[in-house]
Amino acid sequence: MPSRRMRRAVCKLIRVQTSTVCCARPNARTYSLTLQCYGRWVSHSLPLHNGNLLINNALHEKWGHSVLRSRAEMTSCAAQIEQLENRMERGLRMKDEEKLYKRNGILYSTIMSPPENLDAAKHMEAREEDVMMIAYPKCGFNWIVAVMRKIMSVSAGLTVPNRPPLIEFWSPDVHQTVAQSPSRRLIGSHLHYDNIPASFKTKKTKMLVVFRNPKDTAVSYYHFMNKNPVLPKAESWDTFFSDYINGEVPWGSYFDHALAWEKHIDEPNVKVVTYEELKENLPEGIRKVADFFSFPLTDEQVKAIAEETTFSAMVETSKKSYGTYSQVFFRKGEVGDWRNHFSEAQSKQMDEEFQKKLAGTKLGAKLKYDQYCM
Ligand code: A3P
Repeated sequence: MPSRRMRRAVCKLIRVQTSTVCCARPNARTYSLTLQCYGRWVSHSLPLHNGNLLINNALHEKWGHSVLRSRAEMTSCAAQIEQLENRMERGLRMKDEEKLYKRNGILYSTIMSPPENLDAAKHMEAREEDVMMIAYPKCGFNWIVAVMRKIMSVSAGLTVPNRPPLIEFWSPDVHQTVAQSPSRRLIGSHLHYDNIPASFKTKKTKMLVVFRNPKDTAVSYYHFMNKNPVLPKAESWDTFFSDYINGEVPWGSYFDHALAWEKHIDEPNVKVVTYEELKENLPEGIRKVADFFSFPLTDEQVKAIAEETTFSAMVETSKKSYGTYSQVFFRKGEVGDWRNHFSEAQSKQMDEEFQKKLAGTKLGAKLKYDQYCM
């Protein structure tokens, strides 16, 4: 019998205005539910294949583009959650020293981004109209992705597959599926600028880059390493701090990423937003991001998206979808938690690093280091 988890997955698969599922009567081969869809009550029996929900063309046509996710998402939400759980469980069985490997001097996750994924990503064909989001880890990537999913859905009726949009997390098979997916595609990456597939640069695809002050990013990363079984545990805050400063963390050095983007910050297809500015004024951030990618929104739509993507709203949604794994991705969602972790000496060392690398740069100014890190 389909589980509660399956029911949640079905609800996630279906775009409903009110997202009210009033009745779900599961049986072994079909999954029937009645829900309110754009003000109408609609019932449908969804076929299950080996306990998984497959969306086929007939269903897609019947429910319409804005009701069911696009055909490209043949894999069910349940399968996505299952894949996440499998990866986490694989991490639990793996020794810490096997969880990372180095490629061209940069550490990557063995489970999430094995070499074949990076090879496939390297040759990915970008499209001019792709919606590309890039962030150094722990700068608020999942937040901006959630915002972007809603913008694309509300403004253009586009449904974005539920899988993580990071190109380095995609196996060669997923890359093939994405290559055939309709536009506009939501794509993301934590990769260093130099490792973003060349076609994104030649096509001048719009790239939204999210940064966060380096002190809070370090703290967030430290907790993430300790909570995410896919990554090795950080031995102590002091050890982690030194690894972070030296770029010995997955995806490499924060400052190397920042310096690379500084060189491209004025290009018309590049836009930088900061975690802190989203925290300061989320509706304004949403408007900025939507405008950059040419997705028109009314003031009411901006307001609704902002309400749905606050930290507390996203924690609630995530708890429903990911249960205990939710706390891996959501922690405090605050600015300034570094003060509870950094020693005076560490704070001074980071200040010096910032001064040496980013002081006087445009990205440095955007990060408002004096305001958030002093
Ligand atoms: P903290 O660990 O400081 O809480 P990423 O998605 O790039 O991995 O970033 C994770 C960080 O973003 C975590 O920071 C997480 O709690 C925070 N975050 C996620 N959603 C958020 C939201 N809606 N508002 C504010 N912060 C959010």
